[in-house]
Amino acid sequence: ALRPAHVPAPLPQQPSRLRVQHAAADPSVVAWVRRVAALTEPDAVVWCDGSQEEFERLTTQMVQVGTLVRLNEDLRPGSFLARSAPTDVARVESRTFIASHRREDAGPTNNWREPTALREELAGVFAGSMRGRTMYVVPFSMGPVGGPISQLGVQVTDSPYAVVSMRTMTRMGADALAAIGPDTTWVPAVHSVGYPLVDAVGRSRADVAWPCNDLKYIAHFPETREIFSFGSGYGGNALLGKKCFALRIASAMGRDEGWLAEHMLLVKVTDPQQRQFHLAAAFPSACGKTNLAMLRPTLPGWTVETIGDDIAWMRPDAEGRLRAINPEAGFFGVAPGTGWSTNPTAMQMLDRDVIFTNVALTDDGDVWWEGMTEEVPEHLLDWQGRDWTPASGTPAAHPNARFTVSAAQCPSIAEELDDPQGVVVDAVLFGGRRRTNVPLVSQAPDWKAGVFLGASVSSEQTAAAEGTVGQLRHDPFAMLPFAGYDMADYFAHWLGMEDRLSQPPAVFGVNWFRRGDDGRFLWPGFGENSRVIAWICARLAGRVGAVPTPVGLVPASGDLDVAGLDVPAQDLAELFAVDPAAWTAELDELESYFAQFGAKLPRDLTLRLEDVRAELRAA
Ligand code: GDP
Ligand code: PGA
Ligand code: MN
Ligand code: MN
Repeated sequence: ALRPAHVPAPLPQQPSRLRVQHAAADPSVVAWVRRVAALTEPDAVVWCDGSQEEFERLTTQMVQVGTLVRLNEDLRPGSFLARSAPTDVARVESRTFIASHRREDAGPTNNWREPTALREELAGVFAGSMRGRTMYVVPFSMGPVGGPISQLGVQVTDSPYAVVSMRTMTRMGADALAAIGPDTTWVPAVHSVGYPLVDAVGRSRADVAWPCNDLKYIAHFPETREIFSFGSGYGGNALLGKKCFALRIASAMGRDEGWLAEHMLLVKVTDPQQRQFHLAAAFPSACGKTNLAMLRPTLPGWTVETIGDDIAWMRPDAEGRLRAINPEAGFFGVAPGTGWSTNPTAMQMLDRDVIFTNVALTDDGDVWWEGMTEEVPEHLLDWQGRDWTPASGTPAAHPNARFTVSAAQCPSIAEELDDPQGVVVDAVLFGGRRRTNVPLVSQAPDWKAGVFLGASVSSEQTAAAEGTVGQLRHDPFAMLPFAGYDMADYFAHWLGMEDRLSQPPAVFGVNWFRRGDDGRFLWPGFGENSRVIAWICARLAGRVGAVPTPVGLVPASGDLDVAGLDVPAQDLAELFAVDPAAWTAELDELESYFAQFGAKLPRDLTLRLEDVRAELRAA
């Protein structure tokens, strides 16, 4: 096991002059906390226990500083609004780094850094970065504490917003700390907003509502399983159990230990005959995971229960079945577009005890965002706290405005969320935002073709990360921003899973976002996606056949239940149209994307690409 207390710089070896002690903490944790304190020089160190009293103390404090606005207790009890700095609203992929001794271990799709040089850089930016602030120590478990698929971590942070969010998003506090013993592997994660209140010569400055720094580092050391995040308070950059640990570090753990850490929702589906199926689905950020995870089927007799909405950890069990858990304990969901007509389950879940970030504030102290209600309020304070009316011409909520809420509040939550053994995954789905080419649903004929399907995902960019919204980009397995090692090695790891599994899950591709020539969505989406889920389950149960196309198996006419659906036959045909010329061009482009991986690209992917190409030629 790696011993984080013994890793080299940027952490100084000499302890801080602060008294850093905790009766129940393992000495390895105390020693590491001392070193972080020596580097960052906080005024005080507070060990978090995850209690309600602690939550109330921190939120009260944040209301005083202006970080949080308490919402109307009658309309939205226990809830708060945070307004971030306008420059700190999303993940920063250009400042996300993977350090590895050999450049090729990070691969061509990551920002690689040489570990020693990055450590020196980090030592510079973290030096004194918590002056005048309190440093919180946040022990957490990803997955139920002590579970066979679960992992432990400790985040130190100078952001009370990060503390209360970690309490919702992970199993945080005393139990996680108690689980760390002398032989336990745990991931150390250092976070600072990079806004010290006292400078090197002792001059102080006042705090601001949302402290952050223009210089940002979201830095990962997969080889030593360490995380350093500097300059941002935004969830994806600051809640280090989530993207940094559960995806980037955990994907490298999975490669080394034979499991998978994936950007996937996880659901339990029950059909009208009470047969159950577990599905995991990878879509890029802001492409429909939370909505599918909370789907309310329009098809009678079907139910969907939520296990996870963003991350799945999947491991072969002793019988060779792929078992998955959601390592998180809460949801950090996109607010815009979440409404009573699209996602009523989420709307119910958000009725109390929520932290909203960058949504609009109504005159009666409640929240609003685009798509929440059909009726638009006449006056709001927008996400930056400015007066807003429908005539303003700008969105009231930031397009990447988020809610942070406990999974326990979700009306569709499955009891399996707390099962440390996880559920057996029957099918894996890959999807993205594609206005053309990609069919509503297709099935990969076998595992290798399924891995090819995952590797070939591309999607129109969303507001979840910096960049141009709408621009099509490759996002293999929806993991482009999250793979902690070379993406080609990651493809190979997925291909290799076939041999570790007695019965690998079936693999499907879905696309809710295909559009007609006039720009409108061809498919109604949301609850109606249950029709696609029903076909997938019928395939899993062996109840229906399928029609081969060059890009996969699609429903035979009549097998996709469209009864009562208001979609013209022509649109339905278009949703499944495979245009050989357009697809050939797509494959040519995919081939040049794959070329960057050189000799590391698994041959199985090249072979499948050639097969599809040949089938298109014959079509
Ligand atoms: P996540 O970030 O992957 O979890 O995505 P969300 O479920 O939060 O959805 C992101 C955005 O896509 C929201 O604005 C949703 O309203 C929208 N969305 C989700 N599912 C669908 C769908 O089936 N059809 C359409 N048209 N939009 C959807
Ligand atoms: P999302 O999660 O996938 O729900 O958007 C946040 C993110 O990926 O940044
Ligand atoms: Mn995500
Ligand atoms: Mn989501």
